[in-house]
Amino acid sequence: MNHKALRRLIKTHGTPIIVMDHDVLRKNYERFRELMPRVQAYYAVKANSDPAIIQTLYDIGASFDVASISEFRTVHAKIIDLTEDEQQNFIWDRIIYANPIKTAETLLQLDKYKPLVTYDNHEEVMKIAKYAPHSGLLLRLCVPNIGSVVELSSKFGALPSEAVDLISFANYNKLVVEGISFHVGSQCTNIQNYVQALHLTSDIWSVAKSRGIDLKVLDIGGGFPARYDKTIPALRKFASIINAEIDRLFPEPIEVIAEPGRCIVASAATAVSTVIGKAVRSGKPCYYLNDGVYHTYSGIIFDHCHYSIKSFKSGPTMICSVFGPTCDALDTISLAEELPDLDIDDNVYTENIGAYSGASSTHFNGFPPATVIHINS
Ligand SMILES: Cc1ncc(COP(=O)(O)O)c(C=O)c1O
Repeated sequence: MNHKALRRLIKTHGTPIIVMDHDVLRKNYERFRELMPRVQAYYAVKANSDPAIIQTLYDIGASFDVASISEFRTVHAKIIDLTEDEQQNFIWDRIIYANPIKTAETLLQLDKYKPLVTYDNHEEVMKIAKYAPHSGLLLRLCVPNIGSVVELSSKFGALPSEAVDLISFANYNKLVVEGISFHVGSQCTNIQNYVQALHLTSDIWSVAKSRGIDLKVLDIGGGFPARYDKTIPALRKFASIINAEIDRLFPEPIEVIAEPGRCIVASAATAVSTVIGKAVRSGKPCYYLNDGVYHTYSGIIFDHCHYSIKSFKSGPTMICSVFGPTCDALDTISLAEELPDLDIDDNVYTENIGAYSGASSTHFNGFPPATVIHINS
């Protein structure tokens, strides 16, 4: 966003704010679809569950990956005015419940919607068979997450060697397994993770077929990186390799889906805050902002993300520290940021902060989360 537009919003709304640009959301979603035309994109709601974002993506025909009953209800709220049949078709066609571990209560609530859910172990099969037997299943596979910023394979995924047996076990318990899903880890910059995951999946697919099990849904998960800086490969590079591998390994007309979160929403948001304190410690300028690690910058902890702080001022810069407003020293945004000399009440901003940021913001120390301002919605 340009400085002039941001300044106008600061004047109207004050700070801290997160400016969410829905034109960028639409552009990111449409670009994803255009680059991978065989792949149906289920927006991963956990990346940013703001109902206004869900509305915009719903309006342009997106599908949704939910991972809690509350996320399910946020999406379901958009279809409440449809007829019962239309609602059921929407749930079948455009929602996946992609958390491999679900409570009995969650399954009981989900069962009447006959959703598509993921699983990766025997205990979960027993739970689903007991509490949500009308679900369709995808087996979540453990695949290499090498080099991905957020690693997921230590927590989820059946080993390739146990995959076909887990599918048979679900079938034996009268459940229908529709396909296989994987996740290469979030902010994945290593395309080989996708290539290897597709190979592993295709091998399992063939063994299942030889045992008379016909799978029809391939879910390639999320992980597509946001371009926080120019070193991050463009989505176009991932898409051309993924498309070619899918066509080569899965030539038959199967359903291919993905669960992109970060790459849809990260670049749509800019956080703006204000310098509320200033000190010099060990010769280094220190700035205290009215937003921090317990709030919009929570991705520093939970998402292993580094955000750069930009100033509206120009002029010579110095290495400085930037802190959030709380009394905790963990509330450190950066110990080495290059900024010009800032004064109290100056504003600063951070781009590409729409994913896994406000989503994990807290009220710690009595400071509320930043106000979200939606533009072009
Ligand atoms: C099951 C699942 N799907 C999709 C996503 C979204 O991933 P990303 O934001 O990297 O696209 C995640 C993120 O943790 C996930 O766990």
